[in-house]
Amino acid sequence: MDKIITTINGIDYTIGDSILELSYLIAAVLFVFGLKLLSHPETARKGNLWAGVGMFLAMITTMIFHKNDAGNGIHNLIYILGGIAVGSISGWLIAKKIKMTAMPQLVSFYNATGGAASALVAIMEFQNIDLNNTGIFLVTLLGIFIGSVAFSGSMIAYGKLDGKVGDIRASYMKYVNMFLLVVVLAIMGYMMFGGIHSNESLMMYAYVLLGISLIYGVLFVMPIGGADMPVVISLLNSFTGIAAAMGGFLYHNQAMLLGGILVGSAGIILTILMCNAMNRSLLNVIIGAFGGGKSADKEKGTVKEITVNDAAVLLYYSKSVVIVPGYGLAVAQAQHACHELDTLLEENGVNVRYAIHPVAGRMPGHMNVLLAEADVPYTKLVEMDDINPDMPNTDVVIVIGANDVVNPAANDDPGSPIYGMPIIEAEKAKNIIVMKRGMGKGYAGIENYLFFNEKTRMLFGNAKDSLQALVSEVKNL
Ligand code: TAP
Repeated sequence: MDKIITTINGIDYTIGDSILELSYLIAAVLFVFGLKLLSHPETARKGNLWAGVGMFLAMITTMIFHKNDAGNGIHNLIYILGGIAVGSISGWLIAKKIKMTAMPQLVSFYNATGGAASALVAIMEFQNIDLNNTGIFLVTLLGIFIGSVAFSGSMIAYGKLDGKVGDIRASYMKYVNMFLLVVVLAIMGYMMFGGIHSNESLMMYAYVLLGISLIYGVLFVMPIGGADMPVVISLLNSFTGIAAAMGGFLYHNQAMLLGGILVGSAGIILTILMCNAMNRSLLNVIIGAFGGGKSADKEKGTVKEITVNDAAVLLYYSKSVVIVPGYGLAVAQAQHACHELDTLLEENGVNVRYAIHPVAGRMPGHMNVLLAEADVPYTKLVEMDDINPDMPNTDVVIVIGANDVVNPAANDDPGSPIYGMPIIEAEKAKNIIVMKRGMGKGYAGIENYLFFNEKTRMLFGNAKDSLQALVSEVKNL
């Protein structure tokens, strides 16, 4: 494998080098192919598998054929294999045990570990890099900064999604954050151009940078709350990818570089899509310059309930029904019962469609994945912008475990933290049935006046139980 097969620009290439390059090329193709498949719930599993095979191939060939600039292969293989074994086994066990509803938290946690790994690589390699190479110096500092922010920010996002961490919405937070960002830039500038010659001093500054970046990550995510979490989650995702790409630069490792760039750019695209979906600018989300004012105090009115029997009759004799699924549907694991109801109604000539809000649930595409699990045909899922014009002609809208995504405050209360976010306009339908357990609030923690609307009837109870009861009532009609 060490036999030199060619020399290009004075660098010798062995058979091992060629196998390594070829394996990176194959891994790159598998990553891209996997990403493409991941864009659709039906092919997503396969996509995950292909991308995983690509990563596995890149790891194995790197361990066997990689050589550093001095021509030495990888040592410490036992530690590396031990780390891989511990990570893989614990990752596998956690993923097996985790409830579907806790998946968003888990994804944030795993994203945090990716950021931490990249920051650790950068801080460890800081001692070995050529400080006269400005490009590598900068890439290493950026690796420390972005990796740390991705780590601590994702841990806070994990806490928020898990309901363990609340929001700090003080207006001074944005000034604190801007100040910290300036400090980070100043430290980086001083390290690179401040004429520090001692390696010990530089290392000390690298640790200071690491510490401030970790604090910045915490304070950057703390004020972002309510309906804006999806944006910050995808942004942190892209940070982890970018930090990994910095590691790829450091090690001249194309697989790591490409994998990082793919995750980083996919995360940025998702962030832009989420911002569009929420009608926010990224800057607004980051500096927290919206919402959080005083919500208008409105007369609540009364909440009216509906019996299962009345709801079944109303649905059975409708022409057009729109189901709005939300986080509660996932909590109740009621997707199968929901599909059973929609099939029964369709058999009776009712046109049933699902209105999908881009941030319903707790993960991008959460409702699509949930409904795909119950084999709801994709043709029945209609995006928010396409279903809204049809709402006034809809006989009944059934809101199942959704709250924020149908909250009219987004349209008519400038003081509301969700003001400006496009919603599914359930209030425009002729009749509204809301299925939830009680008067609990949604993720944004605000009142929803839809529940007090003249046309709204509440069907209280766990969504799965209510749907199963509805199914048996409809069967008896
Ligand atoms: P939410 O506004 O969170 O409301 C869910 C509702 O489901 C709650 O009001 C709850 O009321 C009800 N519920 C919970 N368990 C239930 C059960 N077993 N049976 C029946 N109902 C149940 O959900 P949404 O409308 O889907 O909105 C999503 C929110 O999460 C948005 O604010 C969004 O910005 C945020 N978020 C989204 C993401 C992504 S990427 N999608 C990520 C982070 C945050 P009861 O307690 O009264 O039952």
